[in-house]
Amino acid sequence: MSNDRLIIQGGKPLFGDVKISGAKNSVLPLISISLLFDKSFTLKNVPDLADTRLMIKLINALGIMTKFYDGTIDFHGEPQNIEAPKELVSKMRASILVLAPLLSKRHNALIPMPGGCEIGERPINYHIDALKQLGAETFLKNGFLRATLPQGRFTGNEIKFPKVSVGATECAIMAAALAIGKTKIYNAAKEPEIVDLGNCLNLAGANIKGLGTSIIEIEGVSNLNPVTYSVIPDRIEAGSFAIIAGITKGEINLLNSNPKDLKVFFEKLKKTNVNVEIYNNTVKVKGISEINAVNIHTEPHPGFPTDLQAQFMSLMCIANGKSIIEEKIFENRFMHVPELSKMKASIKIDGNKAIVNGLNQLKGASVKATDLRASMSLIAASLSANGESIVNDLSHLKRGYENFEEKLFNIGANIR
Ligand code: EPZ
Repeated sequence: MSNDRLIIQGGKPLFGDVKISGAKNSVLPLISISLLFDKSFTLKNVPDLADTRLMIKLINALGIMTKFYDGTIDFHGEPQNIEAPKELVSKMRASILVLAPLLSKRHNALIPMPGGCEIGERPINYHIDALKQLGAETFLKNGFLRATLPQGRFTGNEIKFPKVSVGATECAIMAAALAIGKTKIYNAAKEPEIVDLGNCLNLAGANIKGLGTSIIEIEGVSNLNPVTYSVIPDRIEAGSFAIIAGITKGEINLLNSNPKDLKVFFEKLKKTNVNVEIYNNTVKVKGISEINAVNIHTEPHPGFPTDLQAQFMSLMCIANGKSIIEEKIFENRFMHVPELSKMKASIKIDGNKAIVNGLNQLKGASVKATDLRASMSLIAASLSANGESIVNDLSHLKRGYENFEEKLFNIGANIR
C-alpha cells in the first residue's frame, strides 16, 4: 500500500505518441535465466519497473552480480547461494521463476512458497510436477519449498500440462534447456513472452523447437554461450494505451510495439468502432465516435489476454448497449468492478461474467487500485470521466508500467 496517488481531470481527448517499453512478463523469466549462464549475459530494452528491480535483487541475493543502466542489465558470475530470501519472494510471486534455473545450476533450491495475490490463489503445482518429471525431488516444510536434483542434472522427459500455464511452461523450458536428453512439452503455453525466452536461450546455444505452439521439443545442451538479447515490447502496455485512445476519443500512436502479438485484442477493439491502423511496429489508434458494445472472454494466447480484461471493461462502460465480459483464466479478477461502479458504471457480476450496461458518461470519483492491471483500467476510466478522479495506491502501477506519469503527460493527460 502506498499513499501516492494520481489526481486526474477527465473528459479530455488525448493525442500523441507513446513509446512502448520492454515487456515485464518477458524480462522476469529472462532475468531468471542469468542463473544458467557461467559467463556473461546481457539484456537490452529492459523496462525500469519495481518488478524488474525486485527480480534483480533476488538474483543478486543468489550470488549473480548485475549492472543495470539505461535499459541494459549486464550479468556476471554464477549462483553461490541456494536460498531465495522470503522478504523478496513474498513481494512478487514471479520469484518462483528462479526455481528451475537455480536447481539446474546448483542442484539445490530453497524457495519460500509464493503467496497468492489479489487476482487468485496462484498455485504452482504444475511447476513442481514438471520439475519432478525431469528428475527433481521436492518437499514442502513450514512454508518453504525444498528442491534437490539427486542426479546432478535434469533428465529429459515428456511433460503433459493438464491446463495451459505460462509460468509452468517457462519453468519446464528453463529446466530442460541444460538437461541430459530430450524433453517434449504438451499443452505448452504459446504467449509471445515464452517465445522470447526460448529465442534468447536458442541464441545462447540451446536447442528448443516449437516455441509459440502447444508442443515444445527441447534437446538438452551442456552449457550456454555469452549472449546479448533485447526484450520484446510489452503488448499489455500497448493494449492499455490503445484503450486510453478509444475511451478518451483521442488519437495515440503506439511506437515500438509488436501488433502481431495483439491480433485478437485489436480485432475486438475494431469491433467497438475504435479505429486501428497498423504500420509495421507502429499502431495508430483513434477513438472517434460512438463505442459499440462487444462481448469478450479471456483465453490463453492467442486468445484475448486476461491482462487486458479490466482495461477493456472500462471502455465497455461507455459503450452503446450491453456487453458480457467473461474471465476464464483467474478466479478473482473483477476487483476493478466495485471501483468502476463508484464512477457510476453499471456492471453486474454473475460468477465469472461481468455484464456491463454502457452509459454515455462516467463520473469522476476517488477509487482504489487493487492490482496491476485494474490500476490501468481505473486510470483509463478516470481519463474519460467527467470531472476529477483520484486513483489511490499506485504501488501496483509502478510494478508494470514504466514512466507511466510521463507517458500520460506527453499525450496531454491532465494529471498530478
Ligand atoms: C503469467 O502468470 C503472467 N505473469 C500474468 O500476468 C498473466 O495474467 C498470466 O500469465 C496469464 O497470461 C507473468 O508472466 C510474470 P498461469 P502465471 O500459470 O504464469 C493456474 C500481470 O498482470 N495454475 O498461466 O502465474 C493459475 O491459477 C500478470 O502481468 C495452476 O493451477 O499464470 C491460473 O488460473 C498477472 N497451477 C491459470 O493456471 C500452476 O502450477 C493460468 O496461470 C500454475 C498455474
